[in-house]
Amino acid sequence: SICYLNGGFVPRSEARISPMDRGFLFGDGVYEVIPVYGGRAFRLDAHLARLQRSLAGIGIANPHSHAEWTDLVQRLVAAHHWPAQAVYVQVTRGADTVRNHAFPHDLPPTVFMTADALAPIAPEQLERGVSAVSAADNRWLRCDLKTTALLANCLLRQLAVEQGCAETVLFRDGFLTEGSASNIFVVRDGVLLAPPKSHLMLPGITCDVVLELAAKHGQATEVREIREEEVHSADELWLTSSTKEVLPITRLDDKPVGSGRPGPVTRAMIDWFRQARI
Ligand code: PDD
Repeated sequence: SICYLNGGFVPRSEARISPMDRGFLFGDGVYEVIPVYGGRAFRLDAHLARLQRSLAGIGIANPHSHAEWTDLVQRLVAAHHWPAQAVYVQVTRGADTVRNHAFPHDLPPTVFMTADALAPIAPEQLERGVSAVSAADNRWLRCDLKTTALLANCLLRQLAVEQGCAETVLFRDGFLTEGSASNIFVVRDGVLLAPPKSHLMLPGITCDVVLELAAKHGQATEVREIREEEVHSADELWLTSSTKEVLPITRLDDKPVGSGRPGPVTRAMIDWFRQARI
């Protein structure tokens, strides 16, 4: 496959970056994952706006205009034949000559973009749902920035994997934050609940789509802090992300969520999302 690196398109197997890159040394960079359906990047403007926000949040000047990013994404997508793709965009603070925690001056950022096939969600995962575990959210206090420093997220995800589960649902001080790589929604008594955006979670693009769809279809929704017990006794639970879309969670910590099957609000949202995606 073809990737973009610092100004040119090259085969991914031939792309090279310096071991002095601050992304490699410090996790000093930000990223985006953008889903593409039928050759069209879904919610591209929102992803580019969040990229700009993440860059500003860690003090890297945006190396490209909105129009330039759009053009790069379109060229990368056109270089691959997959009907659905996930475009990965990463910008790091660049490769210095010495290892120094402090920001270097006048260093060009490293810009990397790559695409992979986006496999459709397996029908049996949608019909049966996936299992999740819960854990204390031990990440830093700027989870609103989409940085490549994902060690805590990787360790938290691995907890789920080691128990044969798909995701780890995180709680901080007794309240729901998000998943290790997803946002989490709760349904109780027919009402859709979502935690308010804050520095403790990533403002998900798919999360926004779900909230818009709920409003459009008259689904009762409350955005408010959600206590851990409310998640454990939820009627329905699902996760959202750019690669998993809307995925039911039907077991949490080895106990069924509600009936143990994807509930009516979850199934409606999956249908609404499928229509919105096109
Ligand atoms: N992750 N929260 C976290 C911590 C995430 O890493 C992600 C996405 C989300 C969902 O955001 P969105 O709907 O904008 O994709 C929430 C991407 C897919 C990843 O790291 O691969």
